[in-house]
Amino acid sequence: MLNGKRILLIISGGIAAYKSLELIRTLKKSGASVRCILTQGGAQFVTPLSVAALSEEQVYTDLWSLKDETEMGHIRLSRECDLIVVAPASANIIARIANGLADDLASTTILASDKPVMVCPAMNPQMWENAATKSNIETLKKRGVIISGPAAGEMACGEIGYGRLLEPDVILSAITDFFFADKPLAGLKAIVTAGPTFEPIDPVRFVGNRSSGKQGYAIAKALSDLGASVTLVTGPTNEDAPSGIKTICIETARQMLESCQKLLPSDIAVCAAAVADWTPETYQNSKIKKTSDTSVTLKMTQNPDILSTLSKSVEKRPHLIVGFAAETDNLVDNARMKLLKKGCDWIVANSVSPENPVFGADENQVYFITSDKVEEWPRATKDDVARKLAARIVEFFNQDKAKHAAE
Ligand code: CTP
Repeated sequence: MLNGKRILLIISGGIAAYKSLELIRTLKKSGASVRCILTQGGAQFVTPLSVAALSEEQVYTDLWSLKDETEMGHIRLSRECDLIVVAPASANIIARIANGLADDLASTTILASDKPVMVCPAMNPQMWENAATKSNIETLKKRGVIISGPAAGEMACGEIGYGRLLEPDVILSAITDFFFADKPLAGLKAIVTAGPTFEPIDPVRFVGNRSSGKQGYAIAKALSDLGASVTLVTGPTNEDAPSGIKTICIETARQMLESCQKLLPSDIAVCAAAVADWTPETYQNSKIKKTSDTSVTLKMTQNPDILSTLSKSVEKRPHLIVGFAAETDNLVDNARMKLLKKGCDWIVANSVSPENPVFGADENQVYFITSDKVEEWPRATKDDVARKLAARIVEFFNQDKAKHAAE
């Protein structure tokens, strides 16, 4: 099932375009939402009206349509989907994608996209065998485009060979494989907190910290790559919102806690945020002006502890909760104490001493701590630390499944 997956279907020209109508129905039946771009060639074979009726969405055809561009530009079209599927993909559109052309809405959308692309070729067998097409397909494969098909058989023109568009149910299973094969965390929900929190003093000032958010963002991506449905709850950072991951931007610790609680129940929570421990006791609505006093006192009050709150929540505690510990001294001892005190399952501890600058860096050296072991992980990029942690999370859920199966 493709529940909640958003497919952008590009229908290019070719007799096989009629099959795209059945494909839309098949995808919708499996729970996906389908938005379509119909190329000029595609519109020679199927009408925008039938595509709109089946997809229950507006159909996009024209790069230069002011109306479409205001309502939904090609950039948005290319971003608001989980997968772009070109079916049928004619030799012409394959050549245009391979060469990076942007001369109509379909090619421009693909060029502007940061999403995965699946191409389902359909053409005359000679065109498929042509060296030009072969080299274009190789180019696309090298860029990570998924090529599904074509199938062999008798063509509409009477010739026999490879060139038939895959049947809609076969395309559906290729799409399902894309989303779920090698996705051991598929079906699991994860909350990841990242970045600093900013605690406002007045409209222009705040108390914050140096967290860059890089480690938390990398963890969100690593979990999502393994199929988890991840929501990233992030304080202000300079990182780009990761594609395909639902991101909630907050400023304060209280907002972060509220967002996390709304996301429960969840299977996994990774609290990588550097949450401010204190917030100004009172917020001044107007900018605090300088006076003749040379010093100022800011009274602070403790913020709620998100990791503790999630770990101690009775009804909806995530099944696996991972905290971080940022310490300048006695790293492992302090981190183990945090594990006990906060009630999480694992702690990833990193030193934030001035000799070991972690904030903003691309690398991290951490200790992985559970109730019964401490592992020192070698220094690695934050992406690699994230992937290693994600692999441990997969192991945990595999063992958990095995335990339940044995019971
Ligand atoms: N944390 C949290 N909410 C807070 C403070 C911390 O969820 N209000 C989480 C962090 O996201 C991290 C863990 O608790 O996963 C430890 O954070 P850290 O800053 O190392 O420790 P603190 O709890 O703030 O304790 P201290 O400042 O005394 O070291």
